[in-house]
Amino acid sequence: HYCYRDEFEPAQLVETQNGKLVTPNTKTAYEKMLADAKAEGITGISAASTYRSIDFQVGLYNRYVEQDGVEAADTYSSRPASSEHHTGRTIDLMGPDGTLESFETTEACTWIHQNAYKYGFIVRYQKGCEDITGYKEEPWHITYIGVEASTTMHNEGIQTLEEYYAKYVQHQ
Ligand code: DAL
Ligand code: ZN
Repeated sequence: HYCYRDEFEPAQLVETQNGKLVTPNTKTAYEKMLADAKAEGITGISAASTYRSIDFQVGLYNRYVEQDGVEAADTYSSRPASSEHHTGRTIDLMGPDGTLESFETTEACTWIHQNAYKYGFIVRYQKGCEDITGYKEEPWHITYIGVEASTTMHNEGIQTLEEYYAKYVQHQ
């Protein structure tokens, strides 16, 4: 995964659903996706954690380490300055009971996994990709990368941003 400078902050953050902060492009894409989902009868897409400061991640990561130990924590939590949540382009979606885990059981989850790419989002940490991404499956964590990149990934069956980056950025 990528590492951001300690002073990294998105240039601009704006409020979206539930008062959560994201970048302007992320907001536009997310709200269009919500509206289209609703028009298809899919409700219950709800933003939980979006932008997180590096300071916030320090507390979060440390709590996980206390709970589960460093080795386990590193499989599901980014270290401070390495989380995509710092970019303001990531949204964790929660399920009906307000947890991330319950999102997977919803129709909304199926819809998101099938349609998010049309709006420039990817499901960032997928099952079977743990060795590439470094993290356990997170069906709830979507990241805005722009429609061009997300469509290429969809069309080519590229499941991770790491593989997209290697093919289209690093080796171009
Ligand atoms: N849960 C993801 C990996 C994060 O902490 O950014
Ligand atoms: Zn997340």
